[in-house]
Amino acid sequence: MKLNIALLAGDGIGPEVIDQAVKVSDAIAQKFGHEITWKPALTGAAAIDAVGEPYPDATHEICKNADAVLFGAIGHPKYDNDPSAPVRPEQGLLKMRKALGLFANVRPTFTFPSLLDKSPLKRERIEGTDLVFLRELTGGIYFGEKGRRDGGETAFDNCVYTRHEVQRLAKKGFELAMTRSKRLCCVDKANVLETSRLWRETVQAMEKDYPEVTVSYEFVDAVAMRLVQWPNSYDVLITENLFGDILTDEASVISGSMGLMPSASMGAEVSLFEPIHGSYPQATGLNIANPMATVLSAAMMFESFGLMEEGSAMRDAVNKALEAGIVTEDLADGGKAYGTKEVGDWLAANI
Ligand code: IPM
Ligand code: MN
Repeated sequence: MKLNIALLAGDGIGPEVIDQAVKVSDAIAQKFGHEITWKPALTGAAAIDAVGEPYPDATHEICKNADAVLFGAIGHPKYDNDPSAPVRPEQGLLKMRKALGLFANVRPTFTFPSLLDKSPLKRERIEGTDLVFLRELTGGIYFGEKGRRDGGETAFDNCVYTRHEVQRLAKKGFELAMTRSKRLCCVDKANVLETSRLWRETVQAMEKDYPEVTVSYEFVDAVAMRLVQWPNSYDVLITENLFGDILTDEASVISGSMGLMPSASMGAEVSLFEPIHGSYPQATGLNIANPMATVLSAAMMFESFGLMEEGSAMRDAVNKALEAGIVTEDLADGGKAYGTKEVGDWLAANI
């Protein structure tokens, strides 16, 4: 297969982890006879520095015309404590999500047999955990009519959802549940929020189209609690943008390191694949960041093209590395820590 992939390395550790994913993907291409053309493009603080905006039109053109986008990380501390900054890197991410129509953010949480004791939760609590969040990504409070200040002392943000936005996300949730254990949890705050009541009503109306799927409705606060008590009791969860942002960070550490979890953002056309972690600015250029989440994101990318064997080969290499202790410092636990590049080299050599 000929693949044309937009490569958005972004900020902080982005370029380092992206390099490893490219290396491992190229090894896959060689082994399975594919041809990948990588199309690098600017985003985030790196793009602000170069051309004054975080998601330039030139980058959008490259992404729109690609078969998929592989993304590193976005964000730079020089913007974090400056509420008056006129442009910020995160705006690039939000603009890109909207412009590419990436409405469904798929964030899995699973455990690795060799890491069960590295989780902040007890082994018996997490064994068998294999859940997926589908987070709505282009609506809600992130995109409601522009937040504002009135007279400096009062601030507003608006949470808006349409039935159509809920339906298209829920449809992906039902379809995913059908390929798994046929359980779907709709996470909302329907006891308080009108948007949540629209979510619940919309999902309830869709149940008849998927008679085999058992749907549960849970409030977001209760889910936050059960996620750390019995994460293995969940399968597919669907939720709105802000709840999904918070819960997926919570879920991402269950496996033992946030540096392991991949994600995908899907829309009608092109999809984007990225590690769940951020730009980890303190580690920039130090060759210490864990590249595995980005490598696993590339595995999800191959799988999205129906290249399942290729995806499995990448996942197997990661599992083998974890078992052999070829890990970066986040997982080294006082033992030998390998560099970002060395882990990437090892994975590529073991494809
Ligand atoms: C994420 C990030 C982004 C979000 C930020 C960087 C805008 O936290 O992808 O989860 O809130 O969606
Ligand atoms: Mn987040």
